[in-house]
Amino acid sequence: MSGPLKTCVLVSGTGSNLQALINACRAGKLNIEINHVISNVANAGGLARAESAGIATSVLQHGLFSSRDDFDRALALLMAAGKPDLVVLAGFMRIIGPRVLQPFQGKMINLHPSLLPRYRGTETYRRAIEAGDREHGASIHFVTEELDGGPVISQVVIPILDDDDPQTLAARLGPMEHRLLVATAGFLAEHQVKCSDGAVIIDGKTLEAPLKLQENDQLGFNQPRD
Ligand code: GAR
Repeated sequence: MSGPLKTCVLVSGTGSNLQALINACRAGKLNIEINHVISNVANAGGLARAESAGIATSVLQHGLFSSRDDFDRALALLMAAGKPDLVVLAGFMRIIGPRVLQPFQGKMINLHPSLLPRYRGTETYRRAIEAGDREHGASIHFVTEELDGGPVISQVVIPILDDDDPQTLAARLGPMEHRLLVATAGFLAEHQVKCSDGAVIIDGKTLEAPLKLQENDQLGFNQPRD
């Protein structure tokens, strides 16, 4: 990939992961150009972060649409406007329907706060603690029709401590999610990464296990892939 990856980011919340991408771009550490941020929540913090960075923003309030399909149709049109090479769901809390998926298949990734395939959906921190897990983490996967079910590209793992509650666990995972997202976006900008038949293909080779962000990785994946 020669030029920067034109990137559209979808947010519903505070947008700390969007901010991590913006910061890495500003620092010249990431060969992507965020040219559009879209939110389904009018006062999402992520919108203000994008505006401060001079990035075009759009709001599409799902409650104002009469059906999920109408919302998806409008969302797909908005997303297409910036001709993105990459669409990042960074805390976008809406299920994406086929109308959105189809035109962006293989270009859309989602950040999810669990070690997929464990704990799809919500309340992942509480569920991991209640299950007695010793580890939790975050995953980035290609978005497919299956909720949080697309092939996983990368993960970061953190320990669950004896006195963790969902809040402390989420607070420790947050900064690692930022690093994972920046590292993964950087990886996508530097490699040919495809989603094919339920697998991740990197530079023509099937990824056997998700790329793992190591403790000492700042902006990349140290783990050799062969
Ligand atoms: C992140 O923790 C992300 O993993 C989660 O939303 C948060 C967004 O934080 N995403 C999901 O739960 C998607 N299922 P942010 O708005 O501060 O970037």
